[in-house]
Amino acid sequence: MTAEGNGRSIHVAAVPGDGIGPEVMRVTLPLLEAAAALDGAAVRVTELDWGGDRYLRTGAAMPEEAADMLLGFDAVLFGAVGRLDIPAHVSVWGLILALRQALDLYVNLRPVHVWPGLSIPIRDAEGTDFVVVRENTEGEYTGAGGRAHTGTPNDVAIEIGIHSRAAIERIAHHAFQLAGSRRGRVSLVTKSNVSRFGYALWDEVVLDIHASYPEIEFETVFVDAMAARIIERPQSLDVLLCSNLFGDILSDLGAPLQGGLGMAPSANLRPGGVVPGIFEPVHGSAPDIAGQGIANPAACVLSAALLLSDRGCPEGAAALQRAVGEAYASDTARTPDVGGSATTERAAEEIGAALTTTAAR
Ligand code: NAI
Ligand code: MG
Repeated sequence: MTAEGNGRSIHVAAVPGDGIGPEVMRVTLPLLEAAAALDGAAVRVTELDWGGDRYLRTGAAMPEEAADMLLGFDAVLFGAVGRLDIPAHVSVWGLILALRQALDLYVNLRPVHVWPGLSIPIRDAEGTDFVVVRENTEGEYTGAGGRAHTGTPNDVAIEIGIHSRAAIERIAHHAFQLAGSRRGRVSLVTKSNVSRFGYALWDEVVLDIHASYPEIEFETVFVDAMAARIIERPQSLDVLLCSNLFGDILSDLGAPLQGGLGMAPSANLRPGGVVPGIFEPVHGSAPDIAGQGIANPAACVLSAALLLSDRGCPEGAAALQRAVGEAYASDTARTPDVGGSATTERAAEEIGAALTTTAAR
């Protein structure tokens, strides 16, 4: 593809991975290119063969210098990892989790958008559009803790949750700034009534930071109450600021609201443009349907939209989003997981057709 418009070029590392990863990646890349062109940007793709096949061949899912290699790219589009013949923790820790940590991608964004026409398990969710901003480096996910008296009746396990002011501050700034570009509301999710140390610090620090964003509406909601609210009044939410654990759990509540895992995108970012973000569907490698050509490409396509938005291509990002909505409003584009009978290929063609129409408008 040749550069046009302002001649910008986005160098993307594509990591298709395992299972349905390569199936959804293959149809997403041309849509990414077409959408980027709407902002006058050209996409240059370098495909990396990291994943389960490489692990079985060489003993490592990715090269040792993988994180350094990625520094040469503007963004990473990631499919999924996981194979039935490799233990799940080996696949996940050997690739995607290791990269998120090595690149210090401290923001995990998980947008939840309800698409017209898709059948979902909640009656009144029309118009829902919120985003979970999950702290991606600390909390219960540092591996800190230990075991004692293992294998005896006195077996003890200690799992340590780590919450630092520095980590809370940087994620809070991101959440307030993001809210400024959306509907201007931040809901901080904690459990400071019970966790009197870690989540009390979250309450304190975020309240302080809110003082520098007076135009943003702010509330604190306990995580259990938030779980109920996502089901009862999801339209009342804009930006949910969450710790690592709470963001993980609550964003999974968002998947069925969107129509399932096949529709759920995500981004891992370190704002500031020093390192490339990793953009990936929330779903895994779906071994139960891999190879059948029926994987829903929407989650990967919507992750590509997040990539464009991060790389300064707002037109393309919005057009891709709209194209998915318009295509999936009719059941001819829908794959089996969202109630249709389309193949991956067909779904992508319909999104592509909608992209052309929406771009022409
Ligand atoms: P999964 O997300 O792969 O699949 C769960 C269910 O959702 C399956 O029934 C699957 O068919 C369906 N599904 C998922 N994505 C779909 C799509 N695009 N279109 C249609 N249906 C879709 O989660 P599961 O089964 O727990 O894990 C499978 C493998 O993926 C495991 O090895 C796991 O470790 C790995 N995994 C990797 C992740 C990653 O790469 N970030 C995230 C989650 C799981
Ligand atoms: Mg999860």
